[in-house]
Amino acid sequence: MSKTFYITTPIYYVNGAPHLGHAYTSTAADVLARWHRLAGDEVFFLTGTDEHGQKVEAAARNAGIAPQEFTDRVSADFRDMAQAMNISNDDFIRTTEPRHKAACQAIWSKLQENGFIYLGAYEGWYAVRDEAFYDESETALKPDGTRYALASGAAVEWVVEPSYFFKLSAFQDRLLAFYEENPGFIAPAAKRNEILSFVRGGLNDLSISRTSFSWGVKVPGDEKHVMYVWLDALVNYLTAIGYPEMSGPRAKFWPASLHLVGKEIIRFHAVYWPAFLMGAGLELPKKVFSHGWWTVEGEKMSKSLGNFIDVRPLVQEYGLDQIRYFILREVPFGNDGDFSKESLHRRINSDLANGIGNLSQRTLSFIGKNAGAAVPPKGSLTEADEALLAEAAALPAKLHAAMDKLAFHEALDEIWRLIRAADGYIDSQAPWSLRKTDLDRMNSVLYTLCVVLRTLGVVLQPFMPETMSKLLDYLGLDEARSLAVLDVPLAEGTALPTPTGLFPRVGV
Ligand code: MSP
Repeated sequence: MSKTFYITTPIYYVNGAPHLGHAYTSTAADVLARWHRLAGDEVFFLTGTDEHGQKVEAAARNAGIAPQEFTDRVSADFRDMAQAMNISNDDFIRTTEPRHKAACQAIWSKLQENGFIYLGAYEGWYAVRDEAFYDESETALKPDGTRYALASGAAVEWVVEPSYFFKLSAFQDRLLAFYEENPGFIAPAAKRNEILSFVRGGLNDLSISRTSFSWGVKVPGDEKHVMYVWLDALVNYLTAIGYPEMSGPRAKFWPASLHLVGKEIIRFHAVYWPAFLMGAGLELPKKVFSHGWWTVEGEKMSKSLGNFIDVRPLVQEYGLDQIRYFILREVPFGNDGDFSKESLHRRINSDLANGIGNLSQRTLSFIGKNAGAAVPPKGSLTEADEALLAEAAALPAKLHAAMDKLAFHEALDEIWRLIRAADGYIDSQAPWSLRKTDLDRMNSVLYTLCVVLRTLGVVLQPFMPETMSKLLDYLGLDEARSLAVLDVPLAEGTALPTPTGLFPRVGV
């Protein structure tokens, strides 16, 4: 029986254009979604845009455009970026859609009915850039007298307005008990500890409506209020699977398997979101994983430095799969990392062009020239052949283990270990000499290499879908390309097309 796997990216704010940071979260989620499909799971993969709130309203005003028109435009640009990165999402949600407004209002009513919402007045600090409320202790003064949030550096302003509150304080014990019972809920471990100490420190009730602007989902029964943008935004994960009815074909995907988020928004996903869900009587997601941030050539990406990287020109220049590979290989997932052209060139040349590219090209063009351009007969295998095949056969289990903990770099490391083993095998078996002395043996060596290349091509599909589909074409594989195909013997005699290089060298 296939398992369900529901994975989400955060929905992206449409106050600015998409950049490397957004592409990173989406690509990582995409690799996991594709991996689970490859393993035969039933996957639902959601991404989208977060379009309400003060920040987006202000960005529309600055652009001199009505908010809806503005969000239509920027949201389309995020969709375009997703396409450019070959993101295989099953739905793209926008918080300005009627289905989403209905879901927000439904959960609000549920929370109210369950006694977790009350009317009061908010008086405190608010950072529009973060769309977050801060305790004074979480802020500090700059020399010029302005106040900012310590966690993000965003300017905060003093807000006094009537507001509905969510009784977050009532959930402290239940949250702590939940974290205790579900040690894998927050990852990596450092983030889990951070959240645990935050919650242990005590929770204040959370302001969940605003009255000083109107770009948001109206509070049912009190339309002067719009919902706090984070309540609105988090509910997207339920909207897409048919909340509140939960009777459609997607309902089986709840609870979500994994919310993938950047490190700055873990608190919203690991504290507020579970509390809202508990309050509404819904099951909690299985896992929230927080990844790190990219700097660019050593600098933080920022408006003032004007160094935001749009991935689309990079894809044009270097190739899509090269960029996908780089961002997942370069930095252990969960850590911060730096994007530089120099390291991009290094990875493309050493890992892709000289690694998998060279291994496949030298094997396949040799077969084209010297083995009748077809999968060679297996013949009888030697110990060396069996040893390499055993290494290939052991790979999927190792990858499952790495992917389950979102260690993309480890998964790729394992894959490259096999590539190096195959390189060593070619050198030691020297098929070019066997061509003159022992054709049967040459064929067995080439057959073994074809099996290894098939393994590599299949398991690398989630990371580099386009190029690996080309490689699997060169190996004469039909449409069945999931992990299960690795258990099927490779068909000897299959005609093979003329291969071309998979990854050109760059910057040389
Ligand atoms: N709208 C909220 C999320 C709501 S989810 C219910 C939001 N949007 S965002 O557009 O600001 O950021 C979304 C994602 O982009 C986050 O996961 C964030 O970590 C990621 N990145 C933004 N800049 C980044 C880097 N410089 N590096 C890596 N990822 C970063 O937050």
